Amino acid sequence: MVDAQPSLPLADDGYPAAGGVARRPVDAADSALANRRWWDAAAPAYLAEHGADLGDVDFLWCPEGLREADAHLLGDVAGRRALEIGCGSAPCARWLRRAGADVVAFDLSAGMLARAVELNAATGLAVPLVQADAGALPFAGASFDVACSAFGGLPFVADVEGALAEVARVLRPGGRFVASVNHPMRWPFPDSPDPADLRVTSSYFDRRPYVETDDAGRATYAEHHRTVGDWVRAVVGAGLVLEDLVEPEWTPGRTQEWGQWSPERGALVPGTLILVARTP
Ligand SMILES: C[S@@+](CC[C@H](N)C(=O)[O-])C[C@H]1O[C@@H](n2cnc3c(N)ncnc32)[C@H](O)[C@@H]1O
Repeated sequence: MVDAQPSLPLADDGYPAAGGVARRPVDAADSALANRRWWDAAAPAYLAEHGADLGDVDFLWCPEGLREADAHLLGDVAGRRALEIGCGSAPCARWLRRAGADVVAFDLSAGMLARAVELNAATGLAVPLVQADAGALPFAGASFDVACSAFGGLPFVADVEGALAEVARVLRPGGRFVASVNHPMRWPFPDSPDPADLRVTSSYFDRRPYVETDDAGRATYAEHHRTVGDWVRAVVGAGLVLEDLVEPEWTPGRTQEWGQWSPERGALVPGTLILVARTP
């Protein structure tokens, strides 16, 4: 994916500087373009901030600290062909590889994949990496036993029904799909880790995406809000069988904060929703 546009200007914290913030519609093409440029620019700061917590070969489902090694949401992956959606630096894919899966990982951002390439070399666990958009998977139908995602891609796509239909297409019959996403309960509250900020400042039912813009008003980041019911309908509408909705509680003793996720808030409200589904 060639980017003819200059990279986004960075703020003092190393993340892309937002010219403005809005709740407004943004279509699939503009979402993908904005998020690719945002994650390319943000990758060094994001991985400097969270890389140690994510690990190089580790499967962390969410800021609450739930790990696949304890949760076993994917079942036994040994000998299974697995796909990681929105893999970032790909620690989850490497963990799956070490657990015996034949895994392929993809992400929209070349910046995030560049770090994945480095970690493949450093760990000796060289998972195949593909640059792709979760909205259009460059994989054959019925070619995977497992598809998974830890906050990768799905919160950022405008057409989640289309993205989940793609997941259903590439899974074999009886295949497993597990994905963690922002818990819809996060949206009505300010993006702050402080429990004192648990004040409803927007409607839970407001589906307009959160959009950051440049000075010309073009989207530079887009995150899409869905209610719990929207997620259920999207999963079922894609032809998948929903088996569980997991709402992980904060891991006792864990102090690591991620944006608005903190131990104090985590004790009061859910921050992550994990969709657990299978193909018929
Ligand atoms: C919060 S990170 C999650 C990745 C990894 N689990 C982690 O915690 O670093 C979100 C990832 O989703 C990727 N992403 C965003 N939009 C995407 C899309 N449409 N298709 C595929 N990946 C996408 C980003 O590039 C980024 O690497």
